[in-house]
Amino acid sequence: MDVGEEAAPLDERAAKAPGHVAIIMDGNGRWAEGRGLPRTEGHRQGEERLAGVVRTADDLGIRWLTAYGFSTENWARPKMEVDFILGLHKNIFRRLDEMHGNNVRIRCVGRAVSGTSRLPRRILREIERSVRTTESNTGLNFTLAFDYGAREELVYAARNLLRAHRDGGVPISEPSFAASLYEPALPPVDLLVRTSGEQRYSNFLLWQAVDAPFYVTPTYWPDFDRSELEAALEWWRRQRPVVHEEREPAAD
Ligand code: IPE
Ligand code: IPE
Ligand code: MG
Repeated sequence: MDVGEEAAPLDERAAKAPGHVAIIMDGNGRWAEGRGLPRTEGHRQGEERLAGVVRTADDLGIRWLTAYGFSTENWARPKMEVDFILGLHKNIFRRLDEMHGNNVRIRCVGRAVSGTSRLPRRILREIERSVRTTESNTGLNFTLAFDYGAREELVYAARNLLRAHRDGGVPISEPSFAASLYEPALPPVDLLVRTSGEQRYSNFLLWQAVDAPFYVTPTYWPDFDRSELEAALEWWRRQRPVVHEEREPAAD
């Protein structure tokens, strides 16, 4: 925005932006390797980039932003790299003061919700604190998928629902399944973004992103700046909206 230019009211900006943007932040390693730096340097830059994108998303009128920070598969990486990434994401939750000051509501999806996480206790506490401190905030809804895998989430939801069905007669249906996921408040994804060129889901939001247009940019995550997010939104505006025929929801 030019200096002196008035920001458009949030409603106006939100009308031009997808409600829920989900990002697979990929390419930290390649970004670093291309510069002759250790992969960890890419992760460090990537974490800073994420903090910037949270601010930009809010500014562009996006209401929900979900970022893939660490997958259940990422545990298979060398221990030193895993430890480094875990340490960095503690930073994200530590940026709490800034996010809280900007009225951001923080959530986390992943094994922490099901109580099966292998994350160190101090990180779990940090997550819990951020979620609790920001739970009354009404600005951007920022969700970090951390120690997250969509297949595990679906199994978790199936288990939850089965219990509610057996004990409380809850019908088995699409809405009740959606309400059994890690974070039932998470709306369907309107735009799925992946950086660094690969066209795959890598076990991310398989239920929530089923209708989302998938935007892939060759840019590595540490270079994903405001103009990159604006380009993704511009692409999204050119997509035809998904319109479904009315149909009877399937229930048992
Ligand atoms: C994404 O960057 C960050 C995480 C998966 C945690 P990568 O580390 O996957 O970077 P590339 O894909 O090897 O370049
Ligand atoms: C996806 O990136 C996971 C995150 C961004 C956290 P990966 O680099 O781990 O995915 P693959 O291995 O290319 O599928
Ligand atoms: Mg990768």
